[in-house]
Amino acid sequence: IFYGSVINPISLVSYSASPLCLLAVDTLGNIDWLVDDVEPHNLQETLASKGYIDSEVIALREGEFIIPGFIDTHTHAPQVPNMGTGGQYQLLDWLENVTFPTESKFADVNFARKTYESVVRRAIDSGTTTCCYYGTLHLEATKALADIVHAFGQRAFVGKCNMNRNCPGHYIEASQEDSIADTQALISYIRSLSPQPELSTQEPLVQPILTPRFAISCTDDLLSSLGDLASSDPKLRIQTHISENKSEISFTHKLFPSAPNYAGVYDMFGLLRQNTILAHAVHLTEDEVDLIKSRDAGISHCPTSNFNLSSGVAPIGVYLDKGVKVGLGTDVSGGFSVSILNAIQNASISAKICSLQAGNSASSESAKSTSFANKQLSIPSLLYLATAGGAAVCGLEKQVGSFAAGKSFDALIVNVRDEAGNPTIWGLNGTSPQLAAEDKKKLLEGWLERFLFCGDDRNIERVYVQGAFVGGRTYRRGRMDDS
Ligand code: GUN
Ligand code: FE
Repeated sequence: IFYGSVINPISLVSYSASPLCLLAVDTLGNIDWLVDDVEPHNLQETLASKGYIDSEVIALREGEFIIPGFIDTHTHAPQVPNMGTGGQYQLLDWLENVTFPTESKFADVNFARKTYESVVRRAIDSGTTTCCYYGTLHLEATKALADIVHAFGQRAFVGKCNMNRNCPGHYIEASQEDSIADTQALISYIRSLSPQPELSTQEPLVQPILTPRFAISCTDDLLSSLGDLASSDPKLRIQTHISENKSEISFTHKLFPSAPNYAGVYDMFGLLRQNTILAHAVHLTEDEVDLIKSRDAGISHCPTSNFNLSSGVAPIGVYLDKGVKVGLGTDVSGGFSVSILNAIQNASISAKICSLQAGNSASSESAKSTSFANKQLSIPSLLYLATAGGAAVCGLEKQVGSFAAGKSFDALIVNVRDEAGNPTIWGLNGTSPQLAAEDKKKLLEGWLERFLFCGDDRNIERVYVQGAFVGGRTYRRGRMDDS
């Protein structure tokens, strides 16, 4: 049972900030109930009315609050060693000169295991409770990634890349048959690791995901077989890249002359559906957006990567206006940070660029507006994209992304008391217990805004997935004490 400040995303235009929230998690890690506005003198009475007597209550301190865990809808685990390099290239040269050489090293499973242990630890401690991972093309290394994610207790989708053409000779799948056989082997392996929880409609923590790298790297035959695999398994998620870079788009058109456009390539092979996660979507045409909407596929917005590889500025507001599902992705190492906080910051800048280019002024915009094209993203929008929006993109909206009875407790305890900094920069003044309710709420909203823009993993005290304490600063400290 947690007692204190809780922030809960509601929609793209609102979230609730409750300074006196009581939230109970059951032994399976699901939220049993939550109640707002519980004054300290009513605490015991409220617990008793819920049948909770003599239960341990974790009371948050001033400057601490709970938010849903972040959802990274697109990242590449094997590219973490390259993070912060390669920004002089654009996509296709970057793949050839930076990415493929590093990914090819994951043929060595020991190297893979060591690297992935540090990648997954870092992702969890950065507050990512659900992560959509691309591995390499290697079956054994990608099994190791799934093992580590499972052992560390993160919620994740793990896929091995399908790539049998337009890749270097030392890093390419031998045939369409090999690619499919390894994909099927990985799916069975991951499903045996993390079976469907008994007596529960909830999904397992770690799940497989089909990962055709992008249209350029897959032959028609391969995409067609992947489409067959997908149609025989409707719950299986699919992740790929789309319309990231202009040269990539022209090459795709050349390779698939019969497809109407890039999105049409995936659609032609049955790979565009309600659980497809499309990363980037920087240069989509209106027809493509309409097609994506009609298939109910989701978009992973990766603004850091889109800036870093000079790909462009994705018009996310346009997609939101069309009702397309959107979440955030770090896209390491196109992006140079594993933290969704960094994706939030760059999503904000990216939307400001759209707004400036359209000649809109900040002051004319309202945070409550429900039209998004060519406008800044508000704090509620940014929080939503990083949590509930990402959950919808992954098809986990019933389970994670916000707090409600019956949902999984995937959460962060954020601490803005950072002793390394000056507490007043966070609007803390030591007097908030005496503040009126409205003022406490304002203070809490201010903490959230500053955390999103200038927070980092030092402010992430505890990370919970399915009710289990799996990471954060306190967790790291505990591990250091142990050693
Ligand atoms: N397109 C195909 N592969 C990749 C990749 O690894 N990263 C990015 N950003 N785009 C891709
Ligand atoms: Fe990517």
